[in-house]
Amino acid sequence: MSARSATPPPLNRHLRRLLPYPPGKPIEEVKREFGLSEVCKLASNENPLGPSPRALKAMAAIAGEMNLYPDGSAYYLKQALAERLGVSPAELILGNGSDEIIVFLALAYLNRRRDLVTSDYAFVRYRMAAELAGAPCRLAPMRDMRHDLRALARHITPQTAMVCLDLPGNPTGTSVSRRELERFLRAIPPSVIVVLDQAYFEYAAADPDYPDGLALRGRFPNLVVTRTFSKAYGLAGLRIGYAVARPEIVTDLERIRPPFNTTRVSQAAAIAALDDHAHLRRSTAANAQGLAQLRQGFDRLGLKQWPSLANFILVDVGRDGREVFQALLRAGIVTRPMAGIGLPTGLRISVGTPRQNRACLAALGRILREGAQAAS
Ligand SMILES: Cc1ncc(COP(=O)(O)O)c(C=O)c1O
Repeated sequence: MSARSATPPPLNRHLRRLLPYPPGKPIEEVKREFGLSEVCKLASNENPLGPSPRALKAMAAIAGEMNLYPDGSAYYLKQALAERLGVSPAELILGNGSDEIIVFLALAYLNRRRDLVTSDYAFVRYRMAAELAGAPCRLAPMRDMRHDLRALARHITPQTAMVCLDLPGNPTGTSVSRRELERFLRAIPPSVIVVLDQAYFEYAAADPDYPDGLALRGRFPNLVVTRTFSKAYGLAGLRIGYAVARPEIVTDLERIRPPFNTTRVSQAAAIAALDDHAHLRRSTAANAQGLAQLRQGFDRLGLKQWPSLANFILVDVGRDGREVFQALLRAGIVTRPMAGIGLPTGLRISVGTPRQNRACLAALGRILREGAQAAS
């Protein structure tokens, strides 16, 4: 075969601006590169307590069945979720992470003439999903790192097919109140799908003002609520999430869903995790303590931070965030710099174990002091 004939055809025009998602370095590589024996990964908003022990047992029990394809309809998981959430199985769709469902929604409802509206510091995957569908994405400005619902409503035009709202937001950690959300939903034309991304729902639910999307869906049939097993349930590595929407929307999305997008292991683990109330309670309680520990630590360092209902905090380190990120990395602490999304002095730091949080705060304090001395 000649080199000429090996050239692939040109990439579809609407995909050319999409860049591959920048992967973080594997922990083993970080250790090797910096000669560290221990590394705290506080970069991906994972559950530091690990998976539910019940889920681990269920995974081990099913390991011998991996010669069989999964149940593509996820019958038992849908039954379990339906019962837990008070919805019908016909209102549920499962994804390879809730991330995949966002892509299904974009592919189902967006195109060159039907746009997506979201906020400038909303979860970046929304605008990537719009690009995948070849659709414009209109970004409303946030107000002090909270969704500005009036600005979002103003960005909606007759061409808008979908609005995405992450509550709490990633990387902001902030939310809006139930009343604010209801007012917003009343103002949105019923033909526009509102995706309420509640990936951190279980952490945020203790806040009395935090809206429960499922309680609103009876009044707002255009609402799609996405949630995940990746965060409080500690199953990020399995890739399993879900959405609740009215059956017509679920049917639309089912056309796009690959038949085996969730696995035998992930379905079994999710069913077991749903029943592991003790693990969920431990996870949310530990997170509340970890948030307080980080919040107080950042306050002591005099850093601006935003109030978080999730399992991470967005903090302004007051210096080049990438430099601080690198210095933390050398100290064995992996965080997430925010320059890529237009916050050059921002870092997003996930809640770890109390010991990891302490190590992070100590390293951050030392790095900022050394930086201040070097500058004086
Ligand atoms: C706001 C938000 N939505 C969705 C997701 C996707 O989660 P998953 O695909 O693991 O369910 C994340 C992951 O970090 C997130 O922060």
